[in-house]
Amino acid sequence: MQNTRTLVHVIESMPTSDGAGVKLRRSLGSQRGLHVDPFLMLDEFYSDDPDDYIAGFPAHPHRGFETVTYMLDGHMRHEDHLGNRGDLGPGDVQWMTAAHGIIHSEMPQQSQGRMRGFQLWLNLPSKEKMKPAAYRDIPARDIPTLTLPHGGEVKVIAGSIAQGGALARGPVNGDGAMSTDPLYLDVRLPAGASFDAPVPAGRNAFLYVYEGSARIGAAGEAKPLPHRAAGVLSDGDGVRVLADAGGVRFLLLAARPLREPVVQYGPFVMNTREEIEQALADYRDGRLAAATAPSAVHG
Ligand code: FE2
Repeated sequence: MQNTRTLVHVIESMPTSDGAGVKLRRSLGSQRGLHVDPFLMLDEFYSDDPDDYIAGFPAHPHRGFETVTYMLDGHMRHEDHLGNRGDLGPGDVQWMTAAHGIIHSEMPQQSQGRMRGFQLWLNLPSKEKMKPAAYRDIPARDIPTLTLPHGGEVKVIAGSIAQGGALARGPVNGDGAMSTDPLYLDVRLPAGASFDAPVPAGRNAFLYVYEGSARIGAAGEAKPLPHRAAGVLSDGDGVRVLADAGGVRFLLLAARPLREPVVQYGPFVMNTREEIEQALADYRDGRLAAATAPSAVHG
């Protein structure tokens, strides 16, 4: 790497709740106006107490972006108005493109035990915000795992990564076809191990540490990224992560920025206030979902 990215901003995750009272920790999206374009929000849910998750996320709408759910532990069921139904278990991913509109529920399928995972919100460009909704279930077996030479492993959910002569391509891989061309890695490093990931210049990138802690950046200028915090990276052509004594597990996310205005109102993310008002009216009048029904004609 010629130009290693540096850690420019640390966003500590904040305890919050969403849905019908699911307890979670929000890093990205917890500070109003602070996004890593095109990423809007990252929530981590992690509890052994069913009271924290049992109420789930009953039917609710989305418009204008994508929601990506990645389960580490537990069992959740997704159902939406298009008739899609998906069971998410450990290691599974659901990539849901709300676009014009989706009404879905995300409900726990367990009454005890651990529920753990992430939900990421990824924005869509204005020209794609009103395209038909799409839905994709990605089982854990379709997510390649790369073993690192000095120990540790990388799961490639989206994008691709080259390590030691091997190239791993994730199941979501736009090859430039997706406007944001996202990279989504789940990385585990043992104590003291380091990991160098190329992240093309011009992409916005951040990390989220969900176990242990790490130092981010080139030797001599590395900065600490604590447990359960998001670290926003400067531009550059790659990132270097050095695991602390307890080892580290983290997500690495990068994507092409959209550089468009973001107007968010709850589960709707558009470019203007007028478009938000339209989304609210469409939801109220039953048009949010209706226009994307299979029989609908898309103009
Ligand atoms: Fe949702």
